Amino acid sequence: MIQAMERIQPIVQHPRFQDWLRQMDALEAERIYCRHGLPHLLDVARIAALLAVERGASYPRDMIYAAALLHDLGRLAQYTSGIPHAQAGVPMAQTLLHETAFTAQEQEEILRAVSCHRTGDTSDSLAQIIFEADHASRMCFACDAADTCYWPAQRRNQTVLL
Ligand SMILES: [Fe+2]
Ligand SMILES: [Fe+2]
Repeated sequence: MIQAMERIQPIVQHPRFQDWLRQMDALEAERIYCRHGLPHLLDVARIAALLAVERGASYPRDMIYAAALLHDLGRLAQYTSGIPHAQAGVPMAQTLLHETAFTAQEQEEILRAVSCHRTGDTSDSLAQIIFEADHASRMCFACDAADTCYWPAQRRNQTVLL
């Protein structure tokens, strides 16, 4: 557990990560649809960790958390420049991952989870787990903005239970 803390803290405590989250909160302050700040990122992390256990996936817990914490940072670029966020988030995530002790292979897999989090991947990949957790984290079944949300019906999460 000490090792896990050591590998995730450089992301959580990174001034750039904290600044990006502040910017995200400011940009989404009036947003009536799903937000992408820390509460969402941690929801995804915790659900993904649960899914991984359920599937017997062998990803270290901190690797799952890293992917979840980094998966939506590209939203900032999307708001300002229109670049799709899964794509825009990769170099942002890379900047932070370089300062962690995740191996090159782990970093590559985390980045793939960022870039593929809107589509998923092979059934037991980290990208697929993040994709499913992202979906499960949204409370479309109790959303006040459902009438005007752009998400198609099949994408909306209507399930309370995981
Ligand atoms: Fe996303
Ligand atoms: Fe997300």
